[in-house]
Amino acid sequence: MKSRVHAVAGVLALTLISSFFTASVVVEVFGDHDAVKAVKTVIVFALLGLVPCMAITGGTGRSLSARRLRAPLVRRKQRRIAVAAAIGLLVLVPCAVTLQAMAADGQFGTGFALIQAVELIGGAVNITLLSLNVRDGRLLTAASRRSGDHAASVSARR
Ligand code: HEM
Repeated sequence: MKSRVHAVAGVLALTLISSFFTASVVVEVFGDHDAVKAVKTVIVFALLGLVPCMAITGGTGRSLSARRLRAPLVRRKQRRIAVAAAIGLLVLVPCAVTLQAMAADGQFGTGFALIQAVELIGGAVNITLLSLNVRDGRLLTAASRRSGDHAASVSARR
């Protein structure tokens, strides 16, 4: 159950970040200023869903790895989520809020383009980090199923 919650929250976080990225690129290329403003507003509200998803993924991930904190895959996942959370809080959230405010004010000049570029770079890095965590998560689940550890830990948690 905990593993399912972890996987769903993690994949949902990845889906949200990927959707923000895709919507931002598509609207920049094909949309008018009203469409850009609408997308920026949706992204700011959707952040309210992304932050809890990341927190749930991190919390359940930590608890799932309680007995294998030294495992290299677990350590890599921990490092990646720490970097992804830092980028999210220090780069993506401030960029999203600033871009929404600028779009609402009709400021679509060089400043907007620069902040948009920074947001896309941060988004691309986070998509990569979360995708690697999904891949390593699948490997960890497969390994624990092979060793029978998974069944034991699931029944111990019930
Ligand atoms: C946003 C970051 C993360 C994502 C997207 C993610 C995603 C996933 C996915 C998709 C699985 C496979 C679940 C399954 O096949 O049922 C998984 C498993 C796992 N993850 Fe993560 N994860 C993340 C962060 C973490 C962190 C930070 C840790 C540890 C501190 C962690 C520890 C684990 C463990 C131990 C498993 C195996 C669970 C089992 O025994 O079945 N994950 N993760």
